[in-house]
Amino acid sequence: MAFRASLRLAAAARPAIRPEDSPSGTLIREHAPFMVATYARPPPVFVKGEGSYLWDVEDRKYLDFTAGIAVNSLGHCDAKMAELIAQQSQTLIHASNLYYNPWTGALSKLLIEQTRASGGMHDAAAAFICNSGSEANEAGIKFARKVGKVLRPDGSKTEIVSFRNAFHGRTMGSLSATPNPKYQAPFAPMVPGFRVGDLNDTAALPDLVTDATCSVIVEPIQGEGGVQVASDEFLLALAKRCREVGAVLHFDEIQCGLSRTGTFWAHSHLPKEAHPDIITTAKALGNGFPIGATLVNERVAEKIKVGDHGTTFGGNPLACRLGVYIVERLAEKGLQEGVVKKGEVFRKGFEALRAKYPELVKEVRGKGLILGLQLSEDPGAIVKAARERGLLVITAGTNTLRFVPSLVMSEQEIQEGLRILEEAIEATRQ
Ligand SMILES: Cc1ncc(COP(=O)(O)O)c(C=O)c1O
Repeated sequence: MAFRASLRLAAAARPAIRPEDSPSGTLIREHAPFMVATYARPPPVFVKGEGSYLWDVEDRKYLDFTAGIAVNSLGHCDAKMAELIAQQSQTLIHASNLYYNPWTGALSKLLIEQTRASGGMHDAAAAFICNSGSEANEAGIKFARKVGKVLRPDGSKTEIVSFRNAFHGRTMGSLSATPNPKYQAPFAPMVPGFRVGDLNDTAALPDLVTDATCSVIVEPIQGEGGVQVASDEFLLALAKRCREVGAVLHFDEIQCGLSRTGTFWAHSHLPKEAHPDIITTAKALGNGFPIGATLVNERVAEKIKVGDHGTTFGGNPLACRLGVYIVERLAEKGLQEGVVKKGEVFRKGFEALRAKYPELVKEVRGKGLILGLQLSEDPGAIVKAARERGLLVITAGTNTLRFVPSLVMSEQEIQEGLRILEEAIEATRQ
């Protein structure tokens, strides 16, 4: 069995580099006091990336199953992207949204055309380009509020519904739609008018989504929440309910979209009647360069007027030039077929792990290359053991290992990572 053989060949954990006498230790000691402590970071200091790998300052190599949290879908330091950065940065980087440039509109057009061609949001009409996922959601939330205000100027249609375990971002609007006490409590009060339901609870929809609802925001696959998949039946019922009460349906595809599930959008396989009025995207849209976008249909677009929203950096020619290249690559059929095949390679590996460690591995969730392995314990020790053996993995939700690698990772690299993961699990059983 491949897994057993690999165990015999397994390299032991690399010797830990002692922070006090290593280049990484020196750098961390020098820099950390000046960085607001919003993250608890492990020791590696990454200095280089190429394809599926990262290298730290001590020149140790890591296979990356995280892709910068579902960002580097084309791998690290894609050569064409580097070329375009060089070209565009010598041509035009920024001139502001007060003027036209060739690339903001080109990216908007491409996103809309690809969306329609993909079988997703059939009536997609226009895009607002910004800098991040939170900002894309913020725009979506504001646009939906505006729709509600236009429909009912008395302000009686302003409620926004989101779902438990959702993650929509850290700005006050997107945070108000992220019903996680750990993230919300220190910053309460939240923006008023947000309500919370349970994903896949179809029976609760009539009471949850009402005449007062202006928008429902939902991830077709919750990423941070533990790779929880919204069922097709639920999304169909949700869309039906939104249409009954005249609410805007907003799909947050920031993590699960842009071919990560094997189709351009995670909802692309759904029938027209389940399509959203708003899609938000970011992460892979820039493959590491900051960018986000809010796509809307005509029903939303016609209600947004000059001056309603804006951004200084959003949609600058450099980011959008890259976005055009990245969307073209991610929309390739061959790449999407590869995602499905690679997802199967992961699943086979996970099933082998489940058979070997039935007490530990409880469930496999997700689609394509957004996958979750539900464990019965805190995965922290496994994540650390994997990192010490040269594999980067991240967690999500409660005791879930999350796999969101580059979409161009080879099957051989996936097998290599699965072998290291098994070694890491084995090491934590002793
Ligand atoms: C589904 C989803 N929405 C929104 C966000 C926020 O994006 P950003 O961190 O770019 O603001 C994230 C980030 O993890 C996400 O996964």
